[in-house]
Amino acid sequence: MPVTGSLLITRIGELVTNAPDDDAGGSAEGAGPGRFAVIRDAALIIEGDRITWTGPSSRAPAADEVVDAAERAVLPGFVDSHAHLVFAGERSAEFAARMAGRPYAAGGIRATVAATRAATGAELRAGLHRLAVEMLRQGTTTFECKSGYGLTVADEARSVALAAEITPEVTYLGAHVVPAEFDGDAGAYVDLVCGAMLDACAPHSRWVDVFCERGAFGADEARAVLTAGRARGLIPRIHAGQLGPGPGVRLAVELGAASADHCTFLTDADVDALAAVAPAAPAAATASAAPPASAAAGTVATLLPGAEFGTRQPYPDARRLIDAGVTVALASDCNPGSSYTSSMPFCIALAVRDMHMTTSEAVWAATAGGAHALRRTDVGYLAPGARADLIILDAPSHTYLAYRPGVPLIHAVYRSGKLVQP
Ligand code: NIG
Ligand code: FE
Repeated sequence: MPVTGSLLITRIGELVTNAPDDDAGGSAEGAGPGRFAVIRDAALIIEGDRITWTGPSSRAPAADEVVDAAERAVLPGFVDSHAHLVFAGERSAEFAARMAGRPYAAGGIRATVAATRAATGAELRAGLHRLAVEMLRQGTTTFECKSGYGLTVADEARSVALAAEITPEVTYLGAHVVPAEFDGDAGAYVDLVCGAMLDACAPHSRWVDVFCERGAFGADEARAVLTAGRARGLIPRIHAGQLGPGPGVRLAVELGAASADHCTFLTDADVDALAAVAPAAPAAATASAAPPASAAAGTVATLLPGAEFGTRQPYPDARRLIDAGVTVALASDCNPGSSYTSSMPFCIALAVRDMHMTTSEAVWAATAGGAHALRRTDVGYLAPGARADLIILDAPSHTYLAYRPGVPLIHAVYRSGKLVQP
C-alpha cells in the first residue's frame, strides 16, 4: 500500500540510521549517509517517499497510520552497487568444475555473451525482472546494473536500455572481455567500445566500467575506455584486482572513479592510493569515524565476497582497507559466472565471518557504503530527507544478518515509502 498521509513505524527494537552528523549547528538534512549509528526503542515517520522524523518511540509524533514493528530491527534498504543482471543462460557446470578444482578465468564470460546475443529482448527483460524481484525480497532497494554480455553495438545498446527500464544506476561495460570475433585484434574492439558502442550506450547509462585484468583489458585500454566514457558524461568505475594484482586500482584513483571493485589482490601502493583520496576521517562503520559527504567519498573500495565464494578465491582484506581509512562498500556482483547470488545478507555474513568486518561495518558497507559507491545522498541511511527505503528484519538487531546466515530474515521492505514486500 502506498503511504498517503503520514506513516509511523513504532516499537522498533533497533533502528540503524547511518544518520548524517548535524555538526556545527547546521542541518545535515539531505547530506547523505553518515557513520554507523543506531537508536534503540525507536520510531520513524514516513511522509510520501521520504523519512521525515526518527527518534525514540516515546517521543514519536502522531501519524495517520501506525505500524507496530514489535521490537524488530529496522535498517536502510540495501544498496547493491555492483551487479550484472542483463544476461541469458547459466553456467552451473562451470561452477561445479571450479568446486572440483578448476580455476576461474575471464574467458567464461564468452559463454554468457553467446547466450545473451541469442536471446530475445523479452527473454532478457524477463530474466532481469526475476532478479530484481529476487533482490527486493532480500531487502535490496537500490541496485546498479551493468551491460557487458552483448559486446556488439546493438547488443550492448539493448542491454543498457533494458537495464534503464528498472534502475537509474546503469553501467556501460562494453569492455567486459574481448569477444571472439575480435580475437587477435583487441585494439579494434577497444576502438569500437570507445566509439560507436559508446555513442549507442551513453544515452542510457550513468557509469562506464572496464574489467581491468589479465585476460580482459590492460591499463592503457582501460584508461582509453574510461576517458572516452568520461568525455561523454559517464562516471568511471572499474573491476580491478579480482584475479591478481594489477594497475586497475591506481587507475581508478587517477581518473577519479567512484569505485574500484573486487580489490581482492591489493599492493601497498593500491591501498595508499585509495587512502589518499578517502575523506580525512575513515568513512567505515566504526563509531569513531566521521561521516563523509557522499560526493567526497573518494574512490570507494567495493568488495564482492560472493565472487570469492563462487570462485574459491581468497577473500579481500577488508580490515586493511578500513584501517587505512578507505571507504568500503559491499555488493553482490550478481552474475551467472563468478557470483550467482543476489543476496546482500549472504554477502554481509561472508564479510563478517571471512573478511573480519564487524557486523556494524558490514551492514554499513551494504547500505551507506553502497550509496557512496553510487554517489547517492538519498539512500543508505534513515534520517529526515532520506528516501523511505527500509527493511524490517525478523530479528531484534542487525547482527542477526550474520549470526543467522542463510535464514530469510526480511520481514518487510518499504521502497520510496511504499510497502513492496511482502
Ligand atoms: O565481476 N569480473 C568480471 N565480471 C564478472 C564475472 C562475469 C562472468 O564470469 O560472467 C565479475 O566477477
Ligand atoms: Fe562484476
